[in-house]
Amino acid sequence: MTPDGARRRLLIRDLAQLATPGVDGAPLRGAALGRVDVIEDAYVLCRDGVIEAVGRMRDLKAIDGDVDEFDARGCSAVPGLVDCHTHACFLGDRVEEFALRAGGASYEELHAAGGGIMSTVRATRAGDNDDLRRAVERHRTWMSRVGTTTFESKSGYGLDRETELASLRAIRDAGGIPTWLGAHAVPLEFPSADAYLDFALREVLPEAATIARAADIFLEHGAFDATQARLYLEACRERGLELRIHGDQFSEQGAVALAVELRVRSIDHLEATGADGVTALAASDVTAVVLPASALFLGRPMAPARALVDAGAAVALATDFNPGSAFCENIPLVCSLAATQLRLTPSEALSACTVNAAHVLGLAGELGRLAAGFRADVTLIDAPDWRYLAYHLGGAVVAGVVLGGEFRELG
Ligand code: NIG
Ligand code: FE
Repeated sequence: MTPDGARRRLLIRDLAQLATPGVDGAPLRGAALGRVDVIEDAYVLCRDGVIEAVGRMRDLKAIDGDVDEFDARGCSAVPGLVDCHTHACFLGDRVEEFALRAGGASYEELHAAGGGIMSTVRATRAGDNDDLRRAVERHRTWMSRVGTTTFESKSGYGLDRETELASLRAIRDAGGIPTWLGAHAVPLEFPSADAYLDFALREVLPEAATIARAADIFLEHGAFDATQARLYLEACRERGLELRIHGDQFSEQGAVALAVELRVRSIDHLEATGADGVTALAASDVTAVVLPASALFLGRPMAPARALVDAGAAVALATDFNPGSAFCENIPLVCSLAATQLRLTPSEALSACTVNAAHVLGLAGELGRLAAGFRADVTLIDAPDWRYLAYHLGGAVVAGVVLGGEFRELG
């Protein structure tokens, strides 16, 4: 409502195309993932932050009362892009490490030598609450410039009570969906992973669970094993959190089996997943979140996304934006990588970063589609064919975003 009580309306008119996932329900799997409805010469009518109607311009009825109009000639509309996996709350950078990796050092070697994640933990702990807020807001601006209208972000660079809780609050206050990644790495002041988890579950979880929507763990050599992951995830579930796992990034350590057994919301990465893992995920409710920018940034094999979709698994796409393994906030680029490296079609990529990504966040009932009743979040593609989203590799494809029914400058 406007201050005088009138309804706030926005008409996005004369779109060359509108594209939206074409099958109801979530998550979409198999052939349904690639079914996209396209309307040529289209409009989107928004009212009070919600989509009131979409359709062809020639079918647009006269609108009573005041309405703001946005002339979208030459542009296409897709649902606001949803980035369901980021690590946007960090201070400092890892540009030095990036240069070392470019010269041949491996990510795992740097991690084992106390660099990697732990170097970002040191930088993040050194900041105060305002530094954390400013960092998340800056990263949110970067994401919004490339068309992201909803972002999840993990904590995980504090690994102490104060910094973890401050990270979750900074993410929430910047409009993100917070995930507690309390089990990202074992901080140096603890003698073992078990000792750290004992602390995290006793001292941090109770309050983290009041801010975060989900909990996440890095299940990998050098981080946490499947036994520790089970303990952590079960304790987090007891506190009402949804569960997610960073699994099979470098090696198979039982992450898929645990994910399926615990019926977690998602398992993310999967670059090392073999045929058995694909079959197990396809037969489960767990969404496979594929992160091709991370594989590209680390020069690692891509996750078997084509096999996952063909086997019938629910697949989502995200950036994994973080300072070490994927300094990339760009979902359109992820769609390009999906099309060129993962052998997904642009239509499959669109559903994977809209409705299926919204499902991972528990928001598929309100986000991820251009249809009446859904939140009026729209990403405007600067091209007459929406598939430029994936086609224009690294291009400036986003003309603007509409957030809750209001047009936002790209910032
Ligand atoms: O998803 N693998 C664990 N965590 C992040 C990377 C974090 C970092 O390198 O800072 C990931 O790749
Ligand atoms: Fe990640």
